[in-house]
Amino acid sequence: MRLTILGGGGFRVPLVYGALLGDRGDGRVTQVTLYDPDPSRLTAIAGVLAEQASGLPDAPAVIATTEADDALRGADFVFSAIRVGGLDGRATDESVALAEGVLGQETTGAGGIAYGLRTVPVAMGYARRIAALAPDAWVINFTNPAGLVTEAMSRLLGDRVIGICDSPVGLGRRAARAVGAAPGEAWIDYIGLNHLGWLRGLRVAGRDQLPRLMADSEAIGSFEEGRLFGAEWLRSLGAVPNEYLHYYYFNRETVQAYRSAVRTRGAFLRDQQAAFYADPSLKSWDATRSEREATYMAGSRDVAGAGERAADDLGSGGYEQVALALMRAIARDERATLILNVRNRGTLSELDQDAVIEVPCLVDANGAHPYAVDPLPGHAVGLVTAVKAVEREVLAAADSGSRATAVKAFALHPLVDSVAVARRLVDGYTQQHPGLAYLNRK
Ligand code: G6P
Ligand code: MN
Repeated sequence: MRLTILGGGGFRVPLVYGALLGDRGDGRVTQVTLYDPDPSRLTAIAGVLAEQASGLPDAPAVIATTEADDALRGADFVFSAIRVGGLDGRATDESVALAEGVLGQETTGAGGIAYGLRTVPVAMGYARRIAALAPDAWVINFTNPAGLVTEAMSRLLGDRVIGICDSPVGLGRRAARAVGAAPGEAWIDYIGLNHLGWLRGLRVAGRDQLPRLMADSEAIGSFEEGRLFGAEWLRSLGAVPNEYLHYYYFNRETVQAYRSAVRTRGAFLRDQQAAFYADPSLKSWDATRSEREATYMAGSRDVAGAGERAADDLGSGGYEQVALALMRAIARDERATLILNVRNRGTLSELDQDAVIEVPCLVDANGAHPYAVDPLPGHAVGLVTAVKAVEREVLAAADSGSRATAVKAFALHPLVDSVAVARRLVDGYTQQHPGLAYLNRK
């Protein structure tokens, strides 16, 4: 089986390759094609993969190319893991927003809108090439903002594009452990949009253990989301939010902390990865990765007084394991239940059929089928519908090039508090990002 990775020079590619090396089953991936427009990043990552494979007899062959069409032709699976504008672009997404006093973050709030506006046209360009050159390929979208980008690509690829994220799985795993269950034996009742979802049930042997967890302050203090939000707020919601909801529920404190930080997350990762790419090796990749994991959401954990991350959360096993499980379920028709970003169909009555949501799905050779789930909790309806409306404005702006529509996207976001701020954000971002020049079209 042939796998193509768009963004093949990206820092997380060795995680994917490591997961493939552990897959010994029939019908496994035998060839990996890395596509990246930057040849030096490709060389760096191909070198790390060669070190990972050394001594392993039937490791998947690796091909690297700077030609997207060559990479896509004949692919069975395509992983889309691009970062338009690189980490420098991410740092700018963050700093322009923070200078306006609103959240600057990769996927959430104003920063996420800027990243989406930059990424959607490029992702749709690749989707067009996939539709032309590999129409039978399944596309697994890792590219953030993952829900928005998956929805954009689904307009061209339909249900053959499926978005993934590791945060719902991580939340489910941690909550299951907090009630003393093995993650595999719990039914994780999770629903929302990407980075905007809630765990509102945790069934073990047919009984919901979430009320028991909610009543136990010690158990709540034993896992990341419990420490981030605190027992009292979890009890008020009657659900455990995805960690990214910390940016909503504790917005003011987070913005203040992020504004006074020496560097944004994007700037930290940019500098950290520049050192790795200047002198790449498996050893330095691993050290860089460990440091990244240890500092993930450190600013938010500081705001919450949540302390260090748990040792269990520091290993990899997130994205790449979800992607591998999804690919295996489709390729080998091995039924699996995974929380994925797919089109709503009739799952959430508040949203239309084509809205991409994050929901538990049954996966088989025919793709991902969302399970019927309970309605959204009342407190979540407003946020989900507001953020989906913002995403729709981002897609419309990317399509038309309309500056007014881009302003509307920012202004409608719950974390942007004024239309005047939205206008200045569009000015600031279009000045800083060459990839947003299209917004001045009309
Ligand atoms: C989580 C999120 C991802 C994000 C990743 C890395 O896993 O679900 O969407 O890309 O964290 O965040 P970082 O700040 O390290 O780039
Ligand atoms: Mn994610």
